[in-house]
Amino acid sequence: MTSEGTVRTALDSSGSRSRVLVIGASGFLGRAVVRALAEEGHEVRGLVRDTAKGERVREAGGIPFLGDILDPGSLRGAAKGCAAAIHLAAHPSRDEDGTRVRVEGTRSLIDVAHSEGLHRVLVGSGYWVYRGQSEWITEDSTVDPRGESRANYEAERAGLRANSSGDLEVLVLRPGMVYGDGSWFRSLALSIRAGEYSVVGDGTNRWSFVSLPDTASAFARVLTAGVGGEVYNVVDGTPAPLREFADFVAAQVGAPPPPSISPEAAAKEMDDVVAHHLAADRATSNQKLVRLGWRPRFSTYREGVPGVLKEIFPRGPGRGR
Ligand SMILES: NC(=O)c1ccc[n+]([C@@H]2O[C@H](COP(=O)([O-])OP(=O)(O)OC[C@H]3O[C@@H](n4cnc5c(N)ncnc54)[C@H](OP(=O)(O)O)[C@@H]3O)[C@@H](O)[C@H]2O)c1
Repeated sequence: MTSEGTVRTALDSSGSRSRVLVIGASGFLGRAVVRALAEEGHEVRGLVRDTAKGERVREAGGIPFLGDILDPGSLRGAAKGCAAAIHLAAHPSRDEDGTRVRVEGTRSLIDVAHSEGLHRVLVGSGYWVYRGQSEWITEDSTVDPRGESRANYEAERAGLRANSSGDLEVLVLRPGMVYGDGSWFRSLALSIRAGEYSVVGDGTNRWSFVSLPDTASAFARVLTAGVGGEVYNVVDGTPAPLREFADFVAAQVGAPPPPSISPEAAAKEMDDVVAHHLAADRATSNQKLVRLGWRPRFSTYREGVPGVLKEIFPRGPGRGR
């Protein structure tokens, strides 16, 4: 039986549905993944840390479970009866606490997956783990994890070490710059419109983008079709220079092109690791994911970003939210 066949058998107990736990379900990526899985017919449980956030999970089509990835008892309760789990929890500070949530959280999830008989664990990571380079980046390219991406990379390692075919399969996804109404893109759009954004460096470095719903559909695809022990980039396949992207967003919101700031000045003004990531050249390939049958709805940010800007500025770019 092919790996895909094995997974389908494991996940699709009734032919089309399976029970999946999403951890970090109230977050930017987590909520979109809950929605995508629910739309595909999975029964989705969403782990949330307080009842108020459970509403977000319900609204996305999932069933909220109260718990914390660092509390094994609550994690076990939520995972009971599930075929798979997806780790998208991240601490807002992305510091030491952030590392615990990502890395200890992964270890804890693996333990629970073993004890509760889960078949698959997907660990969400990010493409900032790669070293910047002028050639295309594939899943085999050199990594250079720093800051937030170090915690993501350690989480990947902790997960992949536990991968074993036929028992528990662990897979890693590395989304690029995920644009949607939230997270970094919302901040960038608001600050470009307010004339407060600066492009770090000369802007010739390429970022790799992907829309939020396409990211979520990639998680859904990898859940059922991905190969255990493998890593998948999640990007739209059309990287673009940062300057081109920033000028496009500025034109869309009726603002002038943002000024540039030198990497040295940016390192002083903001976290130097973040400044490093913003100026890194990362043109990333999605071919491995495409070979699984995934196709992004938006193959370039030029198609997907205008709709997101309408969500952020429903009354038009110059008129506030
Ligand atoms: N945003 C992007 O563009 C992007 C791109 C590539 C990769 N990534 C990666 O994807 C992951 C998720 O990012 P995100 O942007 O979706 O983050 P986010 O919006 O900050 O969401 C994080 C989620 O984790 C939950 N959480 C925090 N601590 C927890 C704990 N101890 N137990 C259970 N849940 C906990 C949060 O719940 P509360 O609401 O209760 O705090 C929230 O639901 C990160 O590893 C990030 O590096 C993000």
